[in-house]
Amino acid sequence: MKQVSLKIVNITKIFKDFKNNEIRAVDNISFEIIPGEFVTLLGPSGCGKTTTLRMIAGFEKPTEGKIFINDINVVEIPPWKRDIAMVFQSYGLFPHMSVGENIAYGLKMRKIQKEESQKKVKEILRIVGLEGFEDRPPSSLSGGQQQRIALARALVIEPSVLLFDEPLSNLDALLREQMRIEIKRIQKEVGITAIYVTHDRTEALTLSDKIVLMKDGKIEQIGNPEDVYEKPVNKFVGEFMGKIFFFPIQVLDILEKETLVRLKDRVYKIPSLPTDKADNYVLGCRTEALKISSDGPIEGKIKTIVYLGESSEYYIDTEYGEIMIRVLSPFDKNLSEGKSVKIDLVPEIAKIIPD
Ligand SMILES: Nc1ncnc2c1ncn2[C@@H]1O[C@H](COP(=O)(O)OP(=O)(O)OP(=O)(O)O)[C@@H](O)[C@H]1O
Ligand SMILES: [Mg+2]
Repeated sequence: MKQVSLKIVNITKIFKDFKNNEIRAVDNISFEIIPGEFVTLLGPSGCGKTTTLRMIAGFEKPTEGKIFINDINVVEIPPWKRDIAMVFQSYGLFPHMSVGENIAYGLKMRKIQKEESQKKVKEILRIVGLEGFEDRPPSSLSGGQQQRIALARALVIEPSVLLFDEPLSNLDALLREQMRIEIKRIQKEVGITAIYVTHDRTEALTLSDKIVLMKDGKIEQIGNPEDVYEKPVNKFVGEFMGKIFFFPIQVLDILEKETLVRLKDRVYKIPSLPTDKADNYVLGCRTEALKISSDGPIEGKIKTIVYLGESSEYYIDTEYGEIMIRVLSPFDKNLSEGKSVKIDLVPEIAKIIPD
C-alpha cells in the first residue's frame, strides 16, 4: 500500500449568498497528516468539516491556501486525478448490480482485466468481513453490511487517501459501535491515510490517531484523543469532549513545572502550566478529577444517585452548579440523597483553562 502525507496550509473557503454576502465556511486553517494516520475533523454542525473534506477531495476549490499531497500542491488538480476515495453517509450502491459488480465498478472504469478484478474483489470482501457476498443484491444486505460494501468499493481501487463524511450516522447505536471498531481495524490493516468527519466525540475518541477540533471555520485544538480530552486548551474544547466542571481560581504563582492556584481558602499545586495568557483562569475538572471527601473545600447536597452496578453517579448541588461524581461500588450507604457532602479535587488531573 502506498502511504501518503497531507499538508493543509492556510486554507480558507468563502461562499457567497444571493445578496453577495460572504459566508466564511473555513477560515484560514492548517494541519498535517502523516502517512497512514487516521485524522478526524470533529466539531458542531456548520463548523466547516464537510467543506474542508470537499476541498481535500477536489470538489470545492479553496478561496485561499494550499493542499499538499506528498509535497505536491493539488489545488489545481481535478478530483479524479487526486487518487482519493470517499465514503458517504448514504452508501450510494447501485441497486441493479450485485455486490461484486458494485465493488468491481471502479476497476472496470480503470480497464483492469476481469480475472485480476475478481481476485481483488474477493480479497477486499475478506478484509471487510463479507467473504462470499459477491452475488448478493445490495438490497438484501443490512445497513452495516451495505456500509462495508461502500467501504470495499472505495478501497478496491487502492487510493492513496480515504475520506469519510459521517459514514455511520444512518446506523443504529449498536451497529455504529461495531462499525467503528471495524473501520479502525480495516484502516490499520490496509495502512491507508484517512480523514474522517464527524460531530460525534465518542467516534472521534475511539477512531483517531489525531483529532482536529473545529468551531466556526477555525481550529480550536489539534491533538491525540487523550490530549484533547484531558488537556483541553479552552472551555469550548473541554465541554465538547465530555462532561467537565469549571471552578473560578486565582493563579498565585507559575513555577517551572507547576502552577499554584487558590480555590476558596485552599491552595493547590497543579502539575501543568496555563497554555495561554489570560486575565482570568478557571480550573477544568472532568468527573474523574472530583471526589467526595470530608475535608474538601466545596460544599454540596446530594440531589440524585443513579445506580449503575459497577459504579454510581452522584448528582450534587453546589455553589458552582450541579456536579456529577462517579463512585465505584460498593459505595458508602450513608451517602444518601439529601445528605450534605464536601467535595475535593484531584489536582494531578485538573487543568488550568483561560476563562
Ligand atoms: N455551497 C455552499 N454555499 C453557501 N454556504 C455553504 C455552502 N456549503 C456550506 N456552506 C456553509 O458553510 C458552513 C460550513 O458548512 P459545512 O457543510 O462544511 O459544515 P459541517 O461542519 O460539515 O456541518 P454538519 O455537521 O452539519 O455536516 C455552514 O455555515 C454552511 O451553511
Ligand atoms: Mg457536514
